[in-house]
Amino acid sequence: MTGIHELQVEREEQLVASVVDSFANTPDPRLRTLITALTRHLHAFAREVRLTEAEWTAAVGFLTAVGHITDDRRQEFILLSDVLGLSMQTITMNHPVDEVVTESTVMGPFFAAGAPEIANGGDLAFGASGEPCWVDGVVRDELGTPVPGARLEVWEADDNGFYDLQYPDAQMAARAHLFTEIDGSYSFWALTPTPYPIPEDGPVGRLLAATARSPMRAPHLHFMVAAPGYQTLITHIFVGGEDLPDCVFGIRDSLIKSFDRQPPGTPTPDGRQLDRTWTRTRFDIVLAMDSAKS
Ligand code: BEZ
Ligand code: FE
Repeated sequence: MTGIHELQVEREEQLVASVVDSFANTPDPRLRTLITALTRHLHAFAREVRLTEAEWTAAVGFLTAVGHITDDRRQEFILLSDVLGLSMQTITMNHPVDEVVTESTVMGPFFAAGAPEIANGGDLAFGASGEPCWVDGVVRDELGTPVPGARLEVWEADDNGFYDLQYPDAQMAARAHLFTEIDGSYSFWALTPTPYPIPEDGPVGRLLAATARSPMRAPHLHFMVAAPGYQTLITHIFVGGEDLPDCVFGIRDSLIKSFDRQPPGTPTPDGRQLDRTWTRTRFDIVLAMDSAKS
């Protein structure tokens, strides 16, 4: 290490070795691998930037604030992982490139279990505001065989950029679940996705501001698709033709879809009368076989 006395380097390296050694008897081999590598990389980081005591204190304060703002409805740790690209890197490593299977992307902090069931052709808005959007497609396996009875969870922000979890009244809206038909098809009414900022009023928002980064997410609609014998797919579709900056690095080209705008009065696929513009998109989904189950 240039500019640092040899004895100093030795002392720093000894400390790293002592900490690594302290974990040598960890019974679970995977935990031992994780904690040992974490130790080495943390120390390498601190030594590379020559971390000051004031910076160490600021980092502890930052993580404390992330913890304090986190509760059942607000997950600032996931948000932090997302803006650091760690969520997307973990997904990238665990879903290697595959030209057939639908690509995964970040789940984000706004999934909620217990969303209402809708029939095919139903509407997930439940009072959330936005332009109506017809979504349809077919869920298939890697060989092209339709998957009947697949469960689709779908959720999105309203056109003010808010998820229901951010509403003051805890009312569920702009989310639902439905099941594919015998031929693997599904359809529902949603809201045309619009861009929105991730929650900016906490430590992660302050980090983005301090680093001159945009808090915006590209407009998208979230899907989680599950069926017995298949890997659960967590993904979104993005609105094509829009400027697509994305502060959580979630975009995959294959997930950009065209949302075709229809003038007022255009007949709808299910005969619904709409005297306003609406959009329609198609999302065909291919699930990966769950090798652990097959
Ligand atoms: C979302 O798309 O809901 C989301 C993803 C990552 C961070 C914040 C929000
Ligand atoms: Fe989202």
